[in-house]
Amino acid sequence: MNFSTVLDDSVAKIQATANQLETANHYPRNISQGKKNWNTVAVRDWTSGFWPGVLWYAYEHSHDEGIRQQAERFTQPIECIASPPALDHDIGFMVFCSFGHGFRLTGNESYRAVCLQAANTLATLYNPSVGTILSWPHEKALQHNTIIDNMMNLELLFWAAKNGGSKLLYDIAVKHAETCMSTVVRPDFSTYHVGIFDPDNGAFIKGVTHQGYADDSQWARGQGWAIYGYAICYRETGNPTFLEVSQKAAEVFLNRLPEDGIPYWDFDDPSIPKAPKDASAAAIAACGMLELATLVEDHDSVAQYTGVARSIIRSLSLEPYLSGDTNQALLLHSTGHHPKGTEIDVPIIYADYYYMEALLRLRRLSD
Ligand code: GLY
Repeated sequence: MNFSTVLDDSVAKIQATANQLETANHYPRNISQGKKNWNTVAVRDWTSGFWPGVLWYAYEHSHDEGIRQQAERFTQPIECIASPPALDHDIGFMVFCSFGHGFRLTGNESYRAVCLQAANTLATLYNPSVGTILSWPHEKALQHNTIIDNMMNLELLFWAAKNGGSKLLYDIAVKHAETCMSTVVRPDFSTYHVGIFDPDNGAFIKGVTHQGYADDSQWARGQGWAIYGYAICYRETGNPTFLEVSQKAAEVFLNRLPEDGIPYWDFDDPSIPKAPKDASAAAIAACGMLELATLVEDHDSVAQYTGVARSIIRSLSLEPYLSGDTNQALLLHSTGHHPKGTEIDVPIIYADYYYMEALLRLRRLSD
């Protein structure tokens, strides 16, 4: 499969969608069953950064000035998220997927300032007694909670420490990853969705689920966050234990994949094979494995991670996952919050975001 052609088609679709979205502070999030157009959310929704992120990836591939303007248009309103108070750990997704790419691709200094501010705001959620960031301050019943998804937002802290921010941001990210390694990551390298800690003495109380099937099941997207998050931690620190966690988490994920390479939303849902799939988990894990492929040294591992990621993205680029003319999204069949009964088997914006990222990574490999 020629991933460059898939990228070209995706960029054309993204551009057409951007031209149809009139208000920059309405952000695509999901598409209801049978509908054509994105349902949009306000800037404070945790997913707001992914659509500008999709646009920045489209710009990276196309160098099209019109797409760049659209990326800037949808990035700017997210600036308000960077300032305190920190409502949750999602500041990282929201700001780094928008302003972070904007800075990377344009060098716009005002974008750097917003990212640095966001990193400082995210760090206010850090509890030194626990050694992790409080992921959801609004979930009072969950005491000090830290979710596996939060691993992804350490990248903003690592970046900030290297780009004018405090060195303490690096220390917080490292400590967070270390604490999660022996708590939220289980001994067999599968993961809990949520770790609950005593906020005063830091004791790990238990692991539970929020978006997965059961406390002890394996929520597919959570495992994807773990693969990718720990790969980034290894890239930024050189600590081989982080590499091991990422690799072992990838092994868990790969061992449980169905034949087409796209996971069911939770690997332990007893209704498999009738359970819905999660294309977003597939795209996130593929990006994590492509990151791993840049970090491991032996040729067999490089070939293994690249090969697996390529076959996942190939699968997503065909029916039944590729949206084609079905609706505005690139991908169909993601699952957001199955226990709540929302976003089941629908297009979701972060699936498109990580799909675009994986396509760009694969295109670079074939350059
Ligand atoms: N970070 C929330 C989710 O993965 O659904």
